[in-house]
Amino acid sequence: MCGIVGYIGDEQCYQILIKGLHRLEYRGYDSAGVALIDSNNNINLYKSHGKVAALEKFCESKDVTGTIGIAHTRWATHGEPNDVNAHPHMSQDSNIAIVHNGTIENYKVLKQALIEHGCEFRSETDTEVLVQLIEYIKNSNKCSLLSAVREALNEVIGAYAIAVIDKNTPNTIIAARKSSPLVIGIGENATYLASDATPIIDYTNKVVYLNDDEIAIIKKDEPLSVIKSNNEPSNIDIQTLKLSVSQLEKGGYPHFMLKEIFEQPNTLRDCIRGRVVNDQIQLSGVMDNKERFMNAKRIIIVACGTSWHAGLIGKRLLIDYARIPVEVEYASEFRYSNPVINPDDIVIAISQSGETADTLAAIQIAKEKGAFVYGVCNVVGSSIARATDSGTYIHVGPEIGVASTKAFTGQVTVLTMLAIAIGQLRGTVDDQTVAKIAQSIRQMPELITEALKLNKEIERLSYTFTYAHNFLYLGRGYNFPSALEGALKLKEISYIHAEGYPAAEMKHGPIALIDHELPTVFIAPSDELHEKIISNIQQVKARGGAVIAVITKGDQEIANLANFILEIPEVPECLSPILVSIPLQLLAYHIAVKKGCNVDMPRNLAKSVTVE
Ligand code: G6P
Repeated sequence: MCGIVGYIGDEQCYQILIKGLHRLEYRGYDSAGVALIDSNNNINLYKSHGKVAALEKFCESKDVTGTIGIAHTRWATHGEPNDVNAHPHMSQDSNIAIVHNGTIENYKVLKQALIEHGCEFRSETDTEVLVQLIEYIKNSNKCSLLSAVREALNEVIGAYAIAVIDKNTPNTIIAARKSSPLVIGIGENATYLASDATPIIDYTNKVVYLNDDEIAIIKKDEPLSVIKSNNEPSNIDIQTLKLSVSQLEKGGYPHFMLKEIFEQPNTLRDCIRGRVVNDQIQLSGVMDNKERFMNAKRIIIVACGTSWHAGLIGKRLLIDYARIPVEVEYASEFRYSNPVINPDDIVIAISQSGETADTLAAIQIAKEKGAFVYGVCNVVGSSIARATDSGTYIHVGPEIGVASTKAFTGQVTVLTMLAIAIGQLRGTVDDQTVAKIAQSIRQMPELITEALKLNKEIERLSYTFTYAHNFLYLGRGYNFPSALEGALKLKEISYIHAEGYPAAEMKHGPIALIDHELPTVFIAPSDELHEKIISNIQQVKARGGAVIAVITKGDQEIANLANFILEIPEVPECLSPILVSIPLQLLAYHIAVKKGCNVDMPRNLAKSVTVE
């Protein structure tokens, strides 16, 4: 997490940096700061706890001139989110400033050694240790800023994306990355850098994605140069961005989250384009790796958060249609679980951002053990997309609201196509089934449009439930993960505690919680287990619990039982998680808005979790 922006060029850059920070706020919003080199080569440093808007207010009466600068929006890891711990951090003699995304794991040892050499520290952060180390090396070795940064990074264990400026080398920014993303934008008479391309797209579509262990030397009026941490030159691969500025704006919606919920008919069209052809599913990632998929003995899915929920649905899909044993692991657990992985295993890594540190680490382990790693990512060119052997992008466009919505439906859609494509290859799914699912996938955008018509009704309903302190979400089969995801959405943005459970497991614990104060959301579209879920609903009603049921249109039986119903169009069972997620997203959204919560930037959360 944390967002970095940098600029070097001919223009006054304060507004460029601030605008960039706003774009990166989804990565963390505990504090923000900016460091600018003014015309006398002094570094002016301003920082403030809270969001970027607080920094802007703080800077209103300050000198913010300068054509070289670095800026940061923070998700706190070391030290509380106050002004002192905010980035940029300065070296002891205030010559060098740094912004950093990541964590320096050996910072305590380094800090102790620096203290013994007379360094004094102002903050509790690991980042200040790095800038002090750079200055210490620069002064002791009487070397250049570049050499000092390179040597310091060789001492460091951990993850970083950094940008460093030095008042004694005023026309230069040194940037480097290891396990945390960094993109450099090549403009006319200007170079930009940022944690992702969104702050850059207004100015140029020419970008360079820095690789791990690379250091960029960005100088005013000179071409970009990149070296490896062992001092060898690196190739510079300039790529053209396909992002557009309008994709990054709210487009008339009050929140990004609502915009992204309503975008889903279109994002699903983009997701399936060229992949559902003549009632067949065609995924190049599967076709290019036929042997791997034919011979796979087992699939292990690794992911975090919402992507993990998509992974649980993927498991059902792969078992049903590709007939391969599947395990789903939290990436954070998998990486430390000493996993048994065989060369004919396939590891599928699912990640919206493509930057989640735990998922990246899980990929590394899988690769070391010889597995073939397949990525399901949204952000094109992201670290996970690049670290995997092959994969399928979900192509749902930038997701800015911290609570994932359109990425989830994109992930489940890709996993459906993946399961069918592998099934076609292995002969485990018949043509009729393939055709039926292919047709239904094609209809999904229209069916989602239909489900979105529930918006007003859900808005009205949400008034009734803002009082609740707890919610239970129950579902079975394909929709047990939908229950988990529905509960996660609600707790993330409304701060109401919510639990997702398999409906039949209710009797082994959660039933004890049920009374008139605990609303239960049943995800109960007409499917194989329909009769069974009806009896679960009866058990809740018998104990005085209020029931909100997401049902297939026309399901009179549940309509007669539930206190509130949300009707969705009929769809094959395996695609129902996509459709039921629409009312669940809207319910969480409207309850959170009624409670006055900041739905796009919920407290303590960040969208891209690039630390452990
Ligand atoms: C964070 C986000 C979630 C996301 C999870 C995994 O917790 O707030 O929305 O599901 O990270 O992120 P990824 O980018 O790997 O899907």
